[in-house]
Amino acid sequence: MKLARSVNAARAEVGNAHDHGSSIGLVPTLGALHEGHVSLMRRARAVCDVVAVSIFVNPLQFGPHEDLEAYPRDEQRDATIAKGAGADLLFIPPPEEMKMDDLSMKISAGSPANVLEGALRPGHFSGVCTVVAKLFNILQPQLAFFGQKDAQQNAVLTGMVTDLDFPVGLIVCPTVRESDGLALSSRNLFLTEAERARAAVLFRALDAGRDVLSRSGDIERCEAAMAQALTLESHVTVDYARAVDPLTFETPSERADILLVVAARVGRTRLIDNMLVEGRSMKGRRS
Ligand code: PAJ
Repeated sequence: MKLARSVNAARAEVGNAHDHGSSIGLVPTLGALHEGHVSLMRRARAVCDVVAVSIFVNPLQFGPHEDLEAYPRDEQRDATIAKGAGADLLFIPPPEEMKMDDLSMKISAGSPANVLEGALRPGHFSGVCTVVAKLFNILQPQLAFFGQKDAQQNAVLTGMVTDLDFPVGLIVCPTVRESDGLALSSRNLFLTEAERARAAVLFRALDAGRDVLSRSGDIERCEAAMAQALTLESHVTVDYARAVDPLTFETPSERADILLVVAARVGRTRLIDNMLVEGRSMKGRRS
């Protein structure tokens, strides 16, 4: 596995791959790698000649009171994990190489960015789009791999590559979970033992929401069931518990698939999760 810290070094590796006619698959990450990230790398390994992994804690996507400084960083461990998962190129640029705090222009994220995560974290999706656009330009992948875990991020990035004609295909891979349903996340490292046990409530809430939706097709009852499940767990504060259209993140139309999305703080750690409910599994919603 090659390690590139500068844009020039990364470009040299990419140029080399293109000269050999190799396809490049990119897995962009913030680091603190776990099995969720590894699943994306394995998928990339299966379908691309060269697997590039980027690790960059992007300041533009963190709000002023968020966990930028505290975000877990362990380069040695991450390098070992990426190598084990079959990465060929690890791009770890220092902040001065990406110049995120010093850009004269940014990408303004499209409409799925205005609600839920976007409404609660102003500027977050603009920061995500801007760094992903830079990574696409630097590493020039044909395919880029993302996790279903961050469904709204995927919807926003899909809008970006479509509207701005990026020649990159986005592949969304399933959410990897712990045995109690908790979605793997770098932020799970912040949880105390007691909080870790409570955090499975996000998955249980989604499951309860799916149950209500499949039985009744009633959006309001589904959202109430998810909020209630979250509220019943001690030391858990609900940010939102919604049933939305998986593409627009607005109120779903009658016959469409529905995405259940939850965000909650467990102690001081903010976690998000989601679950797709296919329209055809809902009673009385399809003719
Ligand atoms: P990060 O949170 O490190 O996630 C990197 C990728 O891993 C994302 O596509 C995310 O959806 C995926 N991922 C995280 N947990 C997962 C899980 N349990 N199962 C499957 N995939 C999972 O998302 C970001 O970084 C950043 O916003 C980034 C796209 C790198 C831009 O800075």
